[in-house]
Amino acid sequence: MEWNNKISENVQAVPFSGIRKFFDLASTMKDVISLGVGEPDYAAPDRVIDACIESLKNKETSYTSNWGLLELREEISCFFKKRYGLEYDPMNEIMITVGVSEAITVVMQTILNPGDQVLMPDPAYLAYPACVRLVGGTPVLVPTFSDDEFRLRVDKLEEKLTTKTKALLIGYPNNPTGTVMDQAALEEIAAFVQRHDLIVISDEIYCDLTYEGKHTCFASIPVLAIFADRKKSCSLCTRFTNMRFYVLHLPVSMEQSLR
Ligand SMILES: Cc1ncc(COP(=O)(O)O)c(C=O)c1O
Repeated sequence: MEWNNKISENVQAVPFSGIRKFFDLASTMKDVISLGVGEPDYAAPDRVIDACIESLKNKETSYTSNWGLLELREEISCFFKKRYGLEYDPMNEIMITVGVSEAITVVMQTILNPGDQVLMPDPAYLAYPACVRLVGGTPVLVPTFSDDEFRLRVDKLEEKLTTKTKALLIGYPNNPTGTVMDQAALEEIAAFVQRHDLIVISDEIYCDLTYEGKHTCFASIPVLAIFADRKKSCSLCTRFTNMRFYVLHLPVSMEQSLR
């Protein structure tokens, strides 16, 4: 059998990750420091590891809700209220996923029809285009420039807009540029999103790596609240990148489809 003919076109459209090739190669070499994948140089805190061990010892190994443990979602709901003043109902507005890629892929599967376009800044995290391509969508890269410290500009977004544009995928602080977008800059993006009725997926995995100023959670931007559309955005956050735990906040109207 010619297996290559059997592979889906969506999968064939995704090239093998160069950074992963490099990572695999470096791991076979002695005395080489791998600067490939980005990770913190510390392990998960002991209390997290202990809690995982305890949970396994208690044989908590069966299925949970598709949304993740309710107790965890309740804690996350409190955390977001305290930190950003955002209210998400743990029953149907918070979902735990195994990683950002799963979260973004699930959102893309839920919102995209074949050929729908998703705007994203360039450069940005390498896996974003793949998450869109895997479900038959088209990633549309919006250039950013060193003169602007790689901030996403609304005029560049407008240039790439078509009738097929469905969503905007952003991630600040940005990998690889380290760019952060402050509240004023994100408000301009939010106004653009409102004007064109787009969905925003905001990957905020690096929210705690903001060293100057304060991280702005995209979902907390007032313009979105004014238009009662705050929950049009999906924010993803993690506390430990080495023990995967991501949170997807979502509009209640998407709840059934995502599940
Ligand atoms: C911006 C960004 N999002 C997400 C991830 C990680 O995603 P995942 O949890 O799917 O490995 C990374 C990892 O480098 C990243 O840089």
